[in-house]
Amino acid sequence: MTFTSSVPFFLLAACLTATTALAQKPAASAAPKPPTNDDCLACHGDASATGASGRSVAVLPDKFAASIHGQSGIACVDCHADLARSADFPHGEKLAPAACSNCHADPAAQYDAGVHAEARRASKQSVAAACKDCHGTHEIRSSKDPDSLTYHLNLPATCGRCHGNADIIRRGRIAIGDVVAQFQDSIHGQALSKSGLIVAPDCKDCHNAHDIRRKNDPGSKVFRTAVPGTCGKCHEGIQRRYQHGVHGDALAKGRPDAPVCVTCHSAHQIQRTEGSTWKTHVLRECGTCHPESKRTFRDTFHGQETQLGFMRVATCADCHGAHDIYPKSDARSMVSSARVVETCRKCHPGSSASFAKYDPHADRHSHARNPMLFYAAKFMEALLIGVFAFFGVHTALWASRAVKPDVQVKPRRPDAGRRSQE
Ligand code: HEC
Ligand code: HEC
Ligand code: HEC
Ligand code: HEC
Ligand code: HEC
Ligand code: HEC
Ligand code: HEC
Ligand code: HEC
Ligand code: HEC
Ligand code: HEC
Ligand code: HEC
Repeated sequence: MTFTSSVPFFLLAACLTATTALAQKPAASAAPKPPTNDDCLACHGDASATGASGRSVAVLPDKFAASIHGQSGIACVDCHADLARSADFPHGEKLAPAACSNCHADPAAQYDAGVHAEARRASKQSVAAACKDCHGTHEIRSSKDPDSLTYHLNLPATCGRCHGNADIIRRGRIAIGDVVAQFQDSIHGQALSKSGLIVAPDCKDCHNAHDIRRKNDPGSKVFRTAVPGTCGKCHEGIQRRYQHGVHGDALAKGRPDAPVCVTCHSAHQIQRTEGSTWKTHVLRECGTCHPESKRTFRDTFHGQETQLGFMRVATCADCHGAHDIYPKSDARSMVSSARVVETCRKCHPGSSASFAKYDPHADRHSHARNPMLFYAAKFMEALLIGVFAFFGVHTALWASRAVKPDVQVKPRRPDAGRRSQE
């Protein structure tokens, strides 16, 4: 054991050992009095105190006094419990980890059920979070204190010390990678860090503080079927609309292909829902599950405009809604016969019932859907083939004349002639 200023410390230690030993003599049969904070700070209170490996073992008295534990009169040995009954200094070099669970049974039990505790139980080398990684050690503050590591606005950086750290992501085999950088750029991250919106979510609002689970664990707040409820804590009105709609209904019926909030919005890269990047993204997303609708949409006027990047024209959500989507047969649907004119009128103010008959998913390959279009398309195809066939034969005949040996084509070499004149 070494201290940078070892001489006075050894003196102090010896002195302390002597006094505590003396103090215990008269009541040898009673339990020894636990060491006080002052006993410990006699050695550890010095800012330059270091252990054998050169590691700092300093505990700054002011900092500890300002912490919630210092203020609540918690003793060093309440956490460093293996020193509670030993008044023998110097103490052993290796001590048991601080026991938080003695006093915080509920958070500790929740933590034990989560992924970080599970990883630590599975491997001693695990780099998964323990209490001190999220809360600190001697400077712990209430989560309501703006200086706390777990304060709402500070938490993304606290989780980010690991989930934004390439080395820990690799060692912890965290498949999703660096979510923190993504989160910081998202509408929620910006709302927290830029707008200072206290009502925007941090990591714990979607994952819990202690009982954090993997996304494929049915007990997780981010398990597929739990996602609408997690987002709905804040976006309640949207959750309700979604639940009543065709997708929420399909989810409730256990359909594995029903989209949830993050299918369309993503989890950590959520953007404001305006602008062409978002519209193109969500269009592609609808198309992965409704490929036929996307194909027919692409063939029509609205779709071709979007392919060219003119996002002012209609995309799926403009005609079907985003969360309150219903089958056409449902009167609540924006494309039901009761509402379709009103839907087209959003952009075509003069539209009438007959205008709304224009089929945005017209399929020229489908006779059943639209016989007129089908025959028109067939006629156009026939015309096209006819035109090509006629001119094809025509060109072929001309070509055969051109290669006939009796047609004399004099080779011209203007370059050679000019050069000889020079
Ligand atoms: C006589 C001086 C002295 C006193 C008094 C003392 N310590 Fe220490 N303590 C040390 C030294 C030196 C180390 C560094 C051990 C090493 O790493 O070599 C240390 C290390 C520690 C460690 C780190 C152990 C580890 O496993 O890494 C803890 C925790 C600790 N002390 C707590 C206490 C508490 C609590 C008290 C009061 C009950 C206390 N110490 C009193 C000198 C002291
Ligand atoms: C709220 C619980 C708590 C209290 C109270 C507490 N500690 Fe600690 N202490 C910890 C934790 C957590 C660690 C990190 C290592 C571990 O997990 O045991 C730690 C580590 C240490 C270390 C090792 C060096 C370091 O900083 O990692 C020393 C020395 C130490 N404590 C001394 C003290 C002294 C002296 C007091 C009283 C003034 C005290 N502790 C009070 C929780 C506590
Ligand atoms: C000290 C580093 C550390 C901190 C701090 C930390 N984590 Fe983790 N976390 C890990 C490691 C390592 C794993 C991988 C555990 C395993 O699977 O072995 C993990 C796993 C996870 C998982 C499951 C990921 C998966 O791939 O299955 C989630 C979700 C998670 N952490 C969320 C959080 C949140 C939210 C916070 C902040 C409130 C946080 N973590 C703070 C290290 C940390
Ligand atoms: C992954 C990060 C993380 C880990 C690990 C963690 N906590 Fe927390 N803890 C938090 C966050 C975030 C809050 C704030 C919760 C809130 O504001 O609702 C919190 C709040 C608390 C609170 C105060 C609120 C309450 O629920 O009573 C206590 C006490 C607490 N934690 C103790 C612990 C203990 C003990 C451990 C270890 C067994 C631990 N924490 C592990 C992140 C963590
Ligand atoms: C001896 C009992 C005891 C131990 C051991 C203990 N604490 Fe505490 N802790 C308290 C008391 C008492 C409070 C103050 C409670 C209050 O004011 O609501 C507190 C408060 C807290 C708070 C703030 C709670 C809030 O209201 O936001 C956190 C976080 C916390 N402790 C974390 C820890 C961690 C982490 C450990 C282990 C390193 C630990 N505690 C060990 C007794 C303890
Ligand atoms: C708005 C809600 C929300 C916020 C805020 C959020 N997450 Fe997530 N997170 C999710 C959802 C939902 C998933 C599951 C994604 C999926 O199903 O593809 C997830 C997945 C993860 C995973 C992978 C889990 C696994 O099992 O593979 C980690 C790790 C993670 N988040 C960490 C964080 C961290 C760290 C923060 C804070 C910087 C954070 N998240 C903020 C909703 C959120
Ligand atoms: C099928 C894809 C899809 C699903 C599932 C989905 N959304 Fe949306 N969301 C959209 C689209 C598209 C918009 C843009 C609406 C617009 O342009 O009018 C949007 C817009 C939003 C907006 C911005 C407000 C608005 O209407 O412009 C919020 C907030 C939102 N969604 C949250 C959620 C939540 C929470 C869930 C889950 C309960 C969810 N979304 C499920 C596609 C979806
Ligand atoms: C803790 C509350 C909270 C939770 C949980 C939450 N959000 Fe948000 N969300 C907000 C706030 C606040 C804003 C507004 C930010 C702004 O306008 O700057 C927002 C904005 C949004 C927007 C952008 C709206 C727009 O105007 O275009 C979308 C989309 C969104 N959230 C989707 C989600 C999804 C999906 C989830 C679940 C994975 C979710 N949110 C979870 C609070 C929350
Ligand atoms: C993850 C796959 C998925 C995504 C993404 C998705 N849907 Fe759906 N959609 C479904 C399922 C499943 C149904 C229910 C179909 C059923 O009941 O047969 C459905 C039903 C519908 C219906 C009613 C049609 C019917 O036959 O009942 C419409 C309209 C619809 N979706 C439009 C959209 C739009 C617009 C988007 C993009 C904003 C979208 N969907 C994104 C899976 C998806
Ligand atoms: C210009 C408005 C408009 C746009 C844009 C649009 N749709 Fe439609 N959609 C309709 C109308 C109108 C119908 C009903 C057609 C009919 O009579 O069968 C419909 C029908 C559907 C149906 C079948 C509904 C049912 O109940 O049978 C699905 C699924 C669908 N659309 C998905 C999409 C998807 C996915 C996109 C984007 C790629 C999209 N739509 C773009 C207007 C539109
Ligand atoms: C979000 C706005 C929007 C909605 C909703 C919308 N359209 Fe359009 N539509 C456009 C735009 C923009 C054009 C291109 C107009 C132009 O460039 O002259 C267009 C073009 C058309 C055209 C091509 C002929 C023309 O008028 O130039 C038809 C037909 C059409 N839409 C039918 C419909 C029908 C039917 C509906 C309702 C089911 C509908 N649209 C809903 C924006 C919309």
